[in-house]
Amino acid sequence: MSDATVHKQRRNRLLQKMQRGIAVIPAAPEAVRNGDTHYPYRYDSHFYYLTGFDEPDAVLVLIAGDEPQSILFCREKNMEREIWDGYRHGPDAAKEIFCFNTAFPIAQLDDKLAELMCNQPALFYPLGAHALWDGRIIELRARVQAQARSGVTAPDEMHDVRVLLNEMRLLKDDVELATMHRAAAISAAAHVRAMRAVRPGRMEYEIEAELLHEFRRNGAQAPAYTPIVAGGANACVLHYTGNNAALKDGDLLLIDAACEVDGYASDITRTFPVSGKFSAAQKDLYEMVLAAQAAAIAAARPGARWNEPHDAALRVIAQGLVDFKLCSGSMDAVLESESYKRFYMHRTGHWLGMDVHDVGTYKQDNEWRMLQRGMAFTVEPGCYIRPADDVPQAFWNTGIRIEDDVAISADGCEILTAAAPKTVAAIEELMARHSS
Ligand code: GLY
Ligand code: MN
Ligand code: MN
Repeated sequence: MSDATVHKQRRNRLLQKMQRGIAVIPAAPEAVRNGDTHYPYRYDSHFYYLTGFDEPDAVLVLIAGDEPQSILFCREKNMEREIWDGYRHGPDAAKEIFCFNTAFPIAQLDDKLAELMCNQPALFYPLGAHALWDGRIIELRARVQAQARSGVTAPDEMHDVRVLLNEMRLLKDDVELATMHRAAAISAAAHVRAMRAVRPGRMEYEIEAELLHEFRRNGAQAPAYTPIVAGGANACVLHYTGNNAALKDGDLLLIDAACEVDGYASDITRTFPVSGKFSAAQKDLYEMVLAAQAAAIAAARPGARWNEPHDAALRVIAQGLVDFKLCSGSMDAVLESESYKRFYMHRTGHWLGMDVHDVGTYKQDNEWRMLQRGMAFTVEPGCYIRPADDVPQAFWNTGIRIEDDVAISADGCEILTAAAPKTVAAIEELMARHSS
C-alpha cells in the first residue's frame, strides 16, 4: 500500500468518526529564529498523520456526510521562491500525489472556507492549539453567521478534533510500527556507539556528537528531543541538557537520547560507567533499576491496565530502597507514604509515537486504560541520589535510568529498543572491547 493510500484511509476513518460536519486542520507554522533565519521545520503531527504532506502554509479540510470530501489548501507553484526555498508541489500536483478530492491555493482559504462552512452542523478543529488560527476560525464562522438572513446557518457545535485524532494515533498500525522499529534501531546503534566512545576526560558534548552523527548517518531526520548526556551529579538533574562537563573516572554516565524517523520518535536511556566498570554500589542500584524495568515490561501485556507496569516497577524500587537503607520501614510502608519519591520522582513511562510524549489519554471513564495491541510506550524506571547526611556516600551523585520502547503485541509486548545493551555484563563486555 502506498503512503498516499495509508493517509487517505486515515482521513476516511476520521470522516466516519465525525459523522457530519466540517474539519479544519492547519499545518504547523514556520518558526522564525531571528531575522530571516528559521528553526528547522517540523510538520504538525496530526496534519502529517492525515496527509503525508510536509509543506508549511497548508490546511486540510474534511467534509463529512453523504458525500465525504477531503480538500487541501497549499502554496502555489512559485519559481522565484522555489529557487530560494525549494520545491513546492502546488495544488494540482498535491491533489494527484496525495489523493485529495480537491486542492486550492492557500490564498483562497478564507473565501472558500466561509463557503464550505455554510450549513454545516458541526466544526471540528484543534481548539486552542494555535492562537492565530483560533481567531481566524472564529472570524470565519462569524462571517457565515452574518449571512443568516439569506437562510445560511453556521456550525453551532464546536468539537476539538484532537479528541478523535488522539484515539486514532494511540493505536499504531503496521506501517507506523515498522517506522518506529527503524527509529528504535538507529537510536540503539547510537547508544552502542556512545558506549564505545566514552573515556574519562571526554566531554559530554563529544558523546552527544557521536549520538547525533549516528542518527543522521542512518537517515534519521532529527533527534526526537534534546539529548541528555549527563555524567555523575548531572544525572540527578532530570532535564539536564547542558552537556558541557568533562566525564570523570568513577562516575556513571546517563544518556537519554533518541532520534525521529519519518515523523516517529524513539526514546532510549542507558546508564553506564565512564570507566567501563561499575563500582559495587553503582552495580547494586543499577541491578535494582534493571529488575524494576523487567517487572514493568513483564506487566505490559494486552488486558493489563496502564498503571500496572508502573506499580510493578515501584514495588521493586521500594523494596530495593529498603534493602539499601535509603528508605525506612517496610516496602508497603514506603509505597504508602511515597517516601520512594525522594529517589524516584517520575512515572515509569508515557505513550510514544509521532510525538515523544505522544497523544492519548491515560484514563477512560476514570479508570487507567486497558492496554491493547498497537499501543506503544516507554518503560523507564530510575533512581536519583543526591548527597545527603542520611545517605551512604557510595551512593552520592548517582543517577540511573533505563528506558526502552515497547509495543503491545498479541500476547505481551515487543521491545523495540532491545539492541541497546543494558545488562551489567553486556555493557562491561562491550566497553572492555573498546577501551584502548
Ligand atoms: N526523553 C524524554 C523522556 O524520557 O520522557
Ligand atoms: Mn521517555
Ligand atoms: Mn527518554
